[in-house]
Amino acid sequence: MRPTILVTGARGQVGGELVRLLAPYGEIVATDLESLNLADVDAVRAAVRRAKPALIVNAAAYTAVDLAEKEVDLAYAVNARAPGVLAEEARRLGAVLIHYSTDYVFDGARTTPYPEDAPTGPLNVYGASKLDGERAIAAANAHALVFRTSWVYGLTGRNFLLTIRRLAAERDELRIVADQTGVPNWSRTLAAATTRIVAMGLPAMTERTGLYHLSSTGEATWHAFAQAIVGAAAGPRIVPISTAEYPTPARRPAYGVLATGRFERTFGFALPDWREDLDRCLRSPTGAA
Ligand SMILES: NC(=O)c1ccc[n+]([C@@H]2O[C@H](COP(=O)([O-])OP(=O)(O)OC[C@H]3O[C@@H](n4cnc5c(N)ncnc54)[C@H](OP(=O)(O)O)[C@@H]3O)[C@@H](O)[C@H]2O)c1
Repeated sequence: MRPTILVTGARGQVGGELVRLLAPYGEIVATDLESLNLADVDAVRAAVRRAKPALIVNAAAYTAVDLAEKEVDLAYAVNARAPGVLAEEARRLGAVLIHYSTDYVFDGARTTPYPEDAPTGPLNVYGASKLDGERAIAAANAHALVFRTSWVYGLTGRNFLLTIRRLAAERDELRIVADQTGVPNWSRTLAAATTRIVAMGLPAMTERTGLYHLSSTGEATWHAFAQAIVGAAAGPRIVPISTAEYPTPARRPAYGVLATGRFERTFGFALPDWREDLDRCLRSPTGAA
């Protein structure tokens, strides 16, 4: 019998790719905000008990980093409480949980890549709520794989790539922050890496329960990322600015590069360099401008 795979956040950047890529590996039960609101704990428990999945992939999250400063309770409900409940239900069923977290659990004071066990210190509500989600999962003692990643972009949804493309078509000059460093990650590559791990089988995943940094290699500033998106073609001038010149409600870490050695040693593969992957994304049939 094919295992049931419950995927939350099925209309998100990573979730949308997962629903497609995981289909060969089980019966997919895909939920989105309308069909399963993660802020509703009872609904979350009921959905898991109804589906009886062998694997839960939680791609849903409250990802509006600035709005989270105001919608604190909702951010915590979705990013902290719900993952804890999913983990409790996974343990009850003997299922595996895959969950995603963020580089925003760190304060960004380092200048070299963060290993998994580096001290955390989120600067904003979103990061703090995601960190609480990691802790809630750990406390539930389930077989869970938690993948921290960063700067997710894709060809659908709300993300930096699509924003820059839109602005590049409208303006002669873009002013982009050049003093925050991180790594852009294509949602399809994150979903493909997850699928590769799912393809290893449930026992292999169970044995590898833990926290991992899942990210492309290399590093970028938002300014460098914008330049790479616009490319060499005659586009707008991309002017580097400082974070102080672009104030936002949520503070963001100045540095969020994740060290991926533990992931690579455990799962036996690495993600591509972010520039190569961005090129691949932009050349993909749905990515052409
Ligand atoms: N985006 C990034 O730059 C980034 C960086 C680091 C880590 N991550 C993590 O990576 C994972 C995947 O992120 P992503 O970029 O794919 O996010 P995304 O595109 O924003 O997708 C998240 C999905 O969750 C849904 N959602 C929001 N609130 C919900 C609720 N109360 N109940 C059910 N669903 C809800 C959203 O629905 P609506 O679209 O209808 O609101 C959306 O479809 C998340 O865990 C995120 O924290 C993301």
